[in-house]
Amino acid sequence: MSLKVLFAKKVLFVSSEVFPLIKTGGLADVSGSLPSALKHSGLDVRILIPGYTAVLNQLSELRTIATLTNLPVIEKAELLLGIITETQVKVMVIKSAHLYEREGGPYADMNGQEWLDNPLRFGVLSKVAAMLSGEHSPLADWKPDIVHCNDWQTGLTPAYMKLTEKSEAKSIISLHNMAFQGCYSPAWLTTLNLPHTHFSIEGYEYHGQLSFLKAGIVFADAITTVSPRYAQEIQTVAFGFGLEGLLAKRGHEIKGILNGIETSEWNPKTDPYLCKNYSASNITGKQKVKAALQLVSGLNVDADAPLLGVVSRLTHQKGLDLLLPCMQGLLDSGCQLVLLGSGEKDLEQEFMALAEANPGKISVTIGYNEPLSHQVMAGCDLFVMPSRFEPCGLNQLYGLAYGTLPIVNATGGLADSVIDADLHNIKDGSANGFVMIEASAEALLACIHRAVALFKNDKTTWRKIQKNGMSQNLSWDNSALEYLELYKTLIS
Ligand code: ADP
Ligand code: GLC
Repeated sequence: MSLKVLFAKKVLFVSSEVFPLIKTGGLADVSGSLPSALKHSGLDVRILIPGYTAVLNQLSELRTIATLTNLPVIEKAELLLGIITETQVKVMVIKSAHLYEREGGPYADMNGQEWLDNPLRFGVLSKVAAMLSGEHSPLADWKPDIVHCNDWQTGLTPAYMKLTEKSEAKSIISLHNMAFQGCYSPAWLTTLNLPHTHFSIEGYEYHGQLSFLKAGIVFADAITTVSPRYAQEIQTVAFGFGLEGLLAKRGHEIKGILNGIETSEWNPKTDPYLCKNYSASNITGKQKVKAALQLVSGLNVDADAPLLGVVSRLTHQKGLDLLLPCMQGLLDSGCQLVLLGSGEKDLEQEFMALAEANPGKISVTIGYNEPLSHQVMAGCDLFVMPSRFEPCGLNQLYGLAYGTLPIVNATGGLADSVIDADLHNIKDGSANGFVMIEASAEALLACIHRAVALFKNDKTTWRKIQKNGMSQNLSWDNSALEYLELYKTLIS
């Protein structure tokens, strides 16, 4: 099949979060930027997302295109079509005030308590995605050839497509994080109109529960992960979160495609959140951004102090607990830290206590702050990401683009994108960051000390490493092509 034929194809991209409409993490970044890159390749792409209040408020040209009936519990919802102003990507929205228009986040209320009806909220998302590709689609004029699902929230889609909707479209599930699987009481089978016959080890049963993610893995026509290394890792006990056996069985079919970044959002040359823009060929502006960040964060303004940055969910995955025991040693060697994040309360409190005890040297902001995240990314010298596992990770890619050298553990997408500044890699021009030898506090401290020594003593090599990262093509250009190839294979 020629690429020309493929270009006419319709792709339904199903996701529970999409930047800039709603975001809790990297899934939103990918769901905002990948469909846009696919659209640029000529595909007819539409996103499907729940109608959270924030989504309804931000889309332009929103209009009703169908009434959805025969849904679990709610019976009826409206299907709206709108456009993301920034990218001009079309978005279909499931409007149900009862399910989605609430104060709080997409998965939890204001206090971080998961919504109790999440199986229904994301069961309906999955069901509608399948219906749109099925025999009795409510849309007469737009039927997808490919349904591209993302994570557990959309995991039931491939099952509905095969078992209840008689869909002829091909389905893909992209695995962004095996740690979240959406496992619920089997009572939901009846509520969600899922056949009980497939509630078995070969189907969507997982230790007596209904597993949304397992349904996706079992019934999808293709499986992708967000980095090649993660595709291998999830087939092992250490990273598979109990599904490694099933994944290993389909191992040869799992394709790892490294995420790209949205270069119109994350670009030091044009970033509107920075007081001064800069580029690989003219990096002097980065000094001004550093000074402004130090000032606004209450740190001593000092160009020579190695400034470490963190922007992250504060969870076990991200390994930031490993940074705590390193901090005294780092302060002793003149480092500063600016951290932006939120998550586990213990971690939040420990970092806040450190900041209080070290004014002018450590700044901690608990919460979610888009402009500050860009300023940290640009103003720091080093970006710290000691994740225990990291399916892809976007912040290390942003770090590369901004000349903020990433310090990472060698796992998942971090291992696939960061090349250690050892002598050999510096010499052959491939080094772009620093890689720890294992996920431990000792290894992290040693790695940061190594980076700091280079920062202090060899500015020429430092500049060279910064330039290596900043001149890489980190956009979706190559990765979107890999998805196109996969779609092509599936359709033919
Ligand atoms: P994950 O999705 O596992 O959290 P990624 O590195 O893929 O990790 O993506 C995280 C995304 O969320 C990045 O765009 C990052 O800048 C953003 N982010 C994380 N925490 C915050 C925060 N507190 N404020 C603003 N942005 C944040
Ligand atoms: C998940 C992963 C992260 C990845 C992101 C986008 O949140 O934790 O590593 O970058 O999805 O694919």
